[in-house]
Amino acid sequence: MHDWSSILAGRFIVFDGPDGSGKSTQLARFTAFCESHGTIPEVVRDPGGTPIGEAVRGVLLDPRYDEMGLRCEMLLYMASRAQLMAERIRPALAAGGFVLADRFISSTLAYQGTAGGLAPEEILAVGRVTTGGCEPDLVVIFDVDEKTATARLPAELDRMERKGEAFHRRVRQGYLAQADRDPEHHLVVDGTLDEDSVFAALIEGLGRRFGTAGDSSGPA
Ligand code: TMP
Repeated sequence: MHDWSSILAGRFIVFDGPDGSGKSTQLARFTAFCESHGTIPEVVRDPGGTPIGEAVRGVLLDPRYDEMGLRCEMLLYMASRAQLMAERIRPALAAGGFVLADRFISSTLAYQGTAGGLAPEEILAVGRVTTGGCEPDLVVIFDVDEKTATARLPAELDRMERKGEAFHRRVRQGYLAQADRDPEHHLVVDGTLDEDSVFAALIEGLGRRFGTAGDSSGPA
């Protein structure tokens, strides 16, 4: 059995994936799992997670702002993230805590980059200003095909969810390309399975990545 509280202490892990990937459900389950293993994660959502970030999130997702340009969109995501870094992520990591984020720069690379058309170098350059170079230890990508993802969306779609099928197909490709380019910092989990199976695969994958030598493994 893994010693989860020492595995997770001081780490920064991101859960990410296309809209409808089930990542937020898995994040809630993983938070409860951490708590039952003696670790209370600093859980943050991006965009959002601070009063300023939540206000920016409201603008980003509001379907009334249909005219929003790609660069404006990217910079607003980064602005929310800069505040999240300053107010929540950096202090938690400095105190040796475990940070669990619902999305991060990997989302910007997939949505505004691969799907939207901005060059990854531009995003990464702004990202370095935003985070001061603080990068997650691991990005877990919950991978789902478009059909499964679409079926899971709410009836009323936000500004991003309305961008259509072709856009969301590219989003998925963007995530998978990030994992291909840097497998050491990514874990792809099949998000099409039922909730329990996805969670079991997540725990197994994290244990494999971070488990210490000599662990007899197993999700318990
Ligand atoms: P959420 O519904 O998972 O909280 O995410 C909000 C939406 O914003 C979702 O459609 C993904 C999108 N998004 C981007 O387009 N770029 C980003 O950098 C982030 C963090 C999210």
